[in-house]
Amino acid sequence: MNLAILTSGGDAPGMNAAIRALVRSGLAKNHSLWGIPRGFEGLLRGSPTPLLAASVANILMTGGTMLRTSRFVEFQQEAVRLQAVQSLNQWGMNGLVVLGGNGSLAGAYELSQAGVPVIGIPASIDNDIAETDYSIGFDTAVNNIVASIDKIRDTASAHERIFVVQVMGNHSGNLAIAAGLACGAEAIIIPECLTDYDIIEERLRHTYARGKRHSFIIVAEGAGDAQTVAQEIAGRTGHEAKWVVLGHTQRGGPPTARDRIMAALFANTALQLLDQGQQGLMVAAQAETMNAVPLKDAVAGHKTAPMHWKSLAEILAR
Ligand code: F6P
Repeated sequence: MNLAILTSGGDAPGMNAAIRALVRSGLAKNHSLWGIPRGFEGLLRGSPTPLLAASVANILMTGGTMLRTSRFVEFQQEAVRLQAVQSLNQWGMNGLVVLGGNGSLAGAYELSQAGVPVIGIPASIDNDIAETDYSIGFDTAVNNIVASIDKIRDTASAHERIFVVQVMGNHSGNLAIAAGLACGAEAIIIPECLTDYDIIEERLRHTYARGKRHSFIIVAEGAGDAQTVAQEIAGRTGHEAKWVVLGHTQRGGPPTARDRIMAALFANTALQLLDQGQQGLMVAAQAETMNAVPLKDAVAGHKTAPMHWKSLAEILAR
C-alpha cells in the first residue's frame, strides 16, 4: 500500500518518533511510506516525499516534526477538503495517518467521511483528546515545565517571592494540573473552573505563616494571564509577586522516554489497523493498552481535566 503521513496543528515532542516508527513498521510490512509537508495544507499545496528507512534516521530524539506542520483553517471548508481527497487519489494513496490534536483529528474525521482511509494518532501537549488516556508530547511538556519551575524556585526562595507561572493550555488545564502536582504549587488556575481568589489568598497566608519562603501559582493560558494574576495576588497579600510566561519552551526539546515509547506503540497500532483494512479510527491508549476508537467519538468532545489531581496538589502544598 501507499501510505501517507502528515502532522498537523501544534507540534508535539514525540511526533518525530512516531513518524520514524510508522515508516520503519510500514517498510517491514512492504508498504511505501510518503510524507506530506505542512499538515493538511500540504494535501493542496505540497507533494508527497518518499520516506525510506534512512529518511527517518536520527529523529527519534528530536522535538518538532520533520514533516513540518501548520494550522490550516481553510480545511474546515468542505470544498477545500474535497481538493485534498482528489490529491490523495491522484497520488495513489491507499491510506493516511494524521498526527495531531483535537482540530487535526476533526479534519481527519472529515476526510474519513469523504471516503479516505484515515487513522488518527493523538499528538498534543494538551493531552485533552477524548477517548484516550494519553496524547504524544504531554510528558515532555510537563517535564519541561517542571525543569523551569525547579530553576525559578531557587530565586523565588532566595527573595521570598510568589511566582505566577503561565503554562500552555487554551481550553484545557491538563498541563497546569500535572505540573502543579509535580512542583508543589499552592494554586492551579485552569479554564475548566472559576477562580476563587479568597481561597488562594488564605492558602498563601497559611503557607507564609508556617515559614514557607516561596509560593507558586500555575495558570493555564486559557484561564487568564500571569501578569494580571500576579498583580491581584500582590495586591491581596502584600507580598512581591513575579510572573513568568513559559511559552513555547514547553513544546520543544528532546521527547522523554515515555513519549518515544508511546509514539512507537501508537504508530505500530495505526499500521496494524491499516493492514486490517480498518479506517475512520483513532488509536487510543486506554489502561496501558492500545485500542481503536471511532474518530467520531474522539472529536465529539474534550477529555475532562483530572480535578482530583488539582485538589490533591492543593492539599499537599499546604
Ligand atoms: O494545542 C497545543 C498548544 O500548544 C496549546 O497548548 C496552545 O494554546 C497552542 O498550541 C499554541 O499554539 P501556537 O503555537 O500556534 O501559538
